[in-house]
Amino acid sequence: MTQLLYMETFGCQMNERDSEIMAQLLGEHSYVRTNKPEQADVVVVNTCSIRGKAAHKAYSCFGRYKKLKATHPNLILAVTGCVAQQDGAALLERMPYIDIVMGPQSIYTLPSLVAAFRRNQKPLVATDLSADFVIPPFLPNLAESTPHKRFITIMQGCDNFCTYCVVPYTRGREISRNFDDILAEATHLVGQGVKEITLIGQNVNSYGKKGDAKQNKSFSELLRAVAGIDGLERLRFTSSHPKDLSEELMRCFAEIPVLCPHFHLPVQSGSNTILQRMNRKYTIEAYLDKAARLREYRPDIALTTDIIVGFPGETDDDFGATMQVVETVRYHGAYSFKYSDRPNAKAADFPDKVAEEVKTERLARLQARQEEIALALKQAEIGKSVEVMVEGASKAPANQWSGRTGGNQIVNFSCETKLVSGQLLMVEIEGACQNSLRGKMI
Ligand code: SAH
Ligand code: SF4
Ligand code: F3S
Repeated sequence: MTQLLYMETFGCQMNERDSEIMAQLLGEHSYVRTNKPEQADVVVVNTCSIRGKAAHKAYSCFGRYKKLKATHPNLILAVTGCVAQQDGAALLERMPYIDIVMGPQSIYTLPSLVAAFRRNQKPLVATDLSADFVIPPFLPNLAESTPHKRFITIMQGCDNFCTYCVVPYTRGREISRNFDDILAEATHLVGQGVKEITLIGQNVNSYGKKGDAKQNKSFSELLRAVAGIDGLERLRFTSSHPKDLSEELMRCFAEIPVLCPHFHLPVQSGSNTILQRMNRKYTIEAYLDKAARLREYRPDIALTTDIIVGFPGETDDDFGATMQVVETVRYHGAYSFKYSDRPNAKAADFPDKVAEEVKTERLARLQARQEEIALALKQAEIGKSVEVMVEGASKAPANQWSGRTGGNQIVNFSCETKLVSGQLLMVEIEGACQNSLRGKMI
């Protein structure tokens, strides 16, 4: 009998990918996705805990399902992802209406947990995090729709223990996935019409060092192998740790044509004192040197970053150093956040917490300057012809389409003929605004 599944996903691409996997596994047990929670037999909330705000979003969303369960008593509520891992059984104590609590390493067991809950009606907790975990082979089912771009998980967990970060505790030890399994998944996707693949992990630059990467292959070797799949048009990856960015990887940007000219290189802070207290293991000089070398290999490369403002002990001068990095690098985009204390993360116990008003003011100043730079970089594209991968039609007006450049910028453009997503074409850039470029098809 068909059952209905409703999923809500917060957080990073790892969670998005995990949600796809869970949906497919439940699909193999007759579950079909619905976009109406009130019709669902099973609700899965895949949570994120990266900052206080993200965790609060999850908790408030559980409250909504509590209400729904009052009128739909047979509904099964499963909480997965990083809040589930972090809180474990404590979540059930606080919110007894939750039926299943499951961490990121247990996603492959979701169908059996749901079946067990149906049989026994007893809440279940699956939050084991083993350093010996092997990421199973998995071939995505693209039968429902064939999006032109997909993510492939190449590693899980993180061993870097940046002092602000919860991820090493919620995702466990760094584990690389088997090289041949990744290639098999990529080949399968491209065979089904996928044009763009993004290899994802918390720190892809250290691929192959730990876990089931028995073949001892490096990340650059993996990139070259995936790039060699016939029919793949674009290859991307995220996220990278600056300390592990090797010359060998930089060279890939000069040598692999399908590798997109975009590098997300989180800097976090421009101050060496703060970087050290964050346990980032690089100096700002080393970081800037790598950014410059990347541009030597690929002059059109778009650099983006993550920045934390108001880390404990951050002075005006420390923050000034971060502003200076933004001036020097000229990022195409930056995700910036106010520091927030996280459970288990060392910095939660650091003295000299920065006042909320100071964090707010610094963040606003940083974001305002970064927006000016991003806009100026977009304006510099006007008059150029760029290669765009079609994403789809705009809702209105007619004959308007949307796509992305290799540097991952959104381009809206006009074209009279019908296009298909994943198609590559050339667009002449005619205008720029904060979040997108505008142009016409050549
Ligand atoms: N593994 C990835 C991404 C980690 S999470 C990487 O290292 O690049 C994404 C971003 O969230 C981080 O880069 C950092 O800028 C931010 N972040 C993580 N923990 C945070 C915290 N406690 N407070 C504020 N921002 C945080
Ligand atoms: Fe968190 Fe640092 Fe690991 Fe990124 S590298 S996930 S910021 S601990
Ligand atoms: Fe959030 Fe966990 Fe990803 S904390 S950012 S969902 S690894």
